[in-house]
Amino acid sequence: MDDASPRETTQRGSPRHTPISRRRALVVIGSTVAGIVLLDACDSGATPASRGWVPADVDPTTLTPNQPVPVRFAGTVGGHAVAGSAWLVRRAGDLVAFDPRCTHARCAYDWTADGQFACLCHAGFFRIDGTVISGPPPRPLDRFGAREARGSIELEVPADFSTPRPSA
Ligand code: FES
Repeated sequence: MDDASPRETTQRGSPRHTPISRRRALVVIGSTVAGIVLLDACDSGATPASRGWVPADVDPTTLTPNQPVPVRFAGTVGGHAVAGSAWLVRRAGDLVAFDPRCTHARCAYDWTADGQFACLCHAGFFRIDGTVISGPPPRPLDRFGAREARGSIELEVPADFSTPRPSA
């Protein structure tokens, strides 16, 4: 005697409504959710690179207020040798150091005679305080820490600093 009811027979005949299909669907959904949870955990676990203070190659007495200048830095951060440059500007008694990499796609930018930072990669422009004037950069220029002591200047830079991409 066949113990399958007519309803069960109908479900077996329809690939959309078989118990196996449901099970597979649950496995796929479960795997997808687990994957998303795992990716999210990986993202939130990412730690920013450590930062450390390194000397900048500039005499503080040569800085003119509101006149950004490129300065070189070199040192060791977290056991890594780091070297590069930053834009340094003294403003209203404050010392500000900008990361030399544009916030759009990490290109190098320059200070222009028009009194703005210009990134020629995609025509991105920034004010002297680093805020965006126009173009595709999604946020103001990133900053390094800057401090002055005993006649020298130090910058707080990331251990994984990489030089900017050349602009156009
Ligand atoms: S990298 Fe600077 S505007 Fe695109």
